Amino acid sequence: MSQLDQQLRKKAYEEVEKQKKVVNADRYRLAYHVMPPVGLLNDPNGFIQFNGIYHLFYQWNPFATEHGAKFWGHYTSTNLVDWQHEDIALTPSDWFDKNGCYSGSAIEHEGKIYLFYTGNVKDEHNNRETYQVMAVSENGLDFEKKGVVLNLPEGYTPHFRDPKVWEHDGQFYLIIGAQSKDETGKAVLFRSNDLHHWENLGAIAGAHIGQFGDFGYMWECPDLFTLDGQEVLVFSPQGIESDGIHYQNLYQAGYVIGELDYEHAKYNHGAFVEIDRGFEFYAPQTTVDEQGRRILIGWFGMPEEREDAHPTIEHKWVHAMTLPRELKLVDGKLYQQPIVELKELRKEEVSYPGVELKSNKQSFDKIEGETLELFMENLEKNEPISINIRNHANIVYSPKEQLLKVDRISFVDGQTVEERFCHIETLDNLRIYLDTSSLELFVNDGEEVFSVRIYPKITETGISFSSEGKAKVNLTAWKL
Ligand code: FRU
Repeated sequence: MSQLDQQLRKKAYEEVEKQKKVVNADRYRLAYHVMPPVGLLNDPNGFIQFNGIYHLFYQWNPFATEHGAKFWGHYTSTNLVDWQHEDIALTPSDWFDKNGCYSGSAIEHEGKIYLFYTGNVKDEHNNRETYQVMAVSENGLDFEKKGVVLNLPEGYTPHFRDPKVWEHDGQFYLIIGAQSKDETGKAVLFRSNDLHHWENLGAIAGAHIGQFGDFGYMWECPDLFTLDGQEVLVFSPQGIESDGIHYQNLYQAGYVIGELDYEHAKYNHGAFVEIDRGFEFYAPQTTVDEQGRRILIGWFGMPEEREDAHPTIEHKWVHAMTLPRELKLVDGKLYQQPIVELKELRKEEVSYPGVELKSNKQSFDKIEGETLELFMENLEKNEPISINIRNHANIVYSPKEQLLKVDRISFVDGQTVEERFCHIETLDNLRIYLDTSSLELFVNDGEEVFSVRIYPKITETGISFSSEGKAKVNLTAWKL
């Protein structure tokens, strides 16, 4: 370990200690989500199950609640519910990553974890350089950087980052987010026999490729995997204009489904679909675990969307990870269900079967509080329903328009109401996870998901239900 590496680690741990009291005194500190111990957390990185243990790394600036020279923070878990903070995995201590160990992924090979990440470098004139770097660990805790394995190829700007690596038919593949010289977003594929030498197979998807016309000026964090016999490409494009109820956030995170011809590096895919309809969701990453489940975790945040206005900043931390979600393809659509292990969080259960909702708001004993799981089965599909959450968000189903709306009070000024929508044919059920300052909503067994940060007062714990029609529902809730 170099001297600079040691110094950076020491400084980061000192910052954690120094701010511990302030951070932990925050009533918006989440109860069951992954958060940074101090500073800013963004993308999930290196998500893998290795020797039975789940490892989740994260983009971390320990020194400020702003973006900067990122570290890789590290959490481990045996059940994806309880997370343990580990020693820092990577610090920006080398010439090839001095301005940040940017996002990347992990793969197991010959009993070791190999990390691939982007070394972000800025010169004295603020010109960007990018290097793809490999690091190795035998025990899953101590990582040794092996240096640069991939340089910027011809045809791309230095916005070339976030390698995701996987194995297929005895060969390794790496997909990377890129901007080509004409300033359009691309996903570029590489192949290797040994993880060290990478052959450029070209852009397999991007703006002005296949079915896409203009489709953003940069694609970040691509992830390609097989799910139920098809290849899904997840990516986070920047520069997509909003269009009706679609693309309402500053940046998007979505997927296409298709077939990848590995031999000719040709990917035929369908239309782009947003993964999450909420306000805070970006740069997700997946892994396949030992049970063969494809699990996705996203950054519960949105870059450059008034990140400085989150009330948690006062307490020296910002952002979190979403809950882990298991992925399935159902009728050509990506379904996301909260992983079953989350049941371990359940405490007391209450249930109210066959409740008829009225136009005035109704509350139910024990369906309230800061941390709650709520399941609502809709028994009359064509009746409107509204749910108010802690005076800070509303979930509104309009069967005539076939829309589900989630609104919330903006955390920027505490009063503006912001809205997001999704289209659904009918509402069958809703599953809501409430944490002290977050709301995750799974619609129709995971057909749609909304991730939303909310910052209610400590006294605002109520949840109420109403209907302008004749809605009838079964309600079940668990204190978490
Ligand atoms: C996405 C991203 C990545 C980059 C990382 C830097 O949020 O911009 O493209 O690697 O964050 O923290």
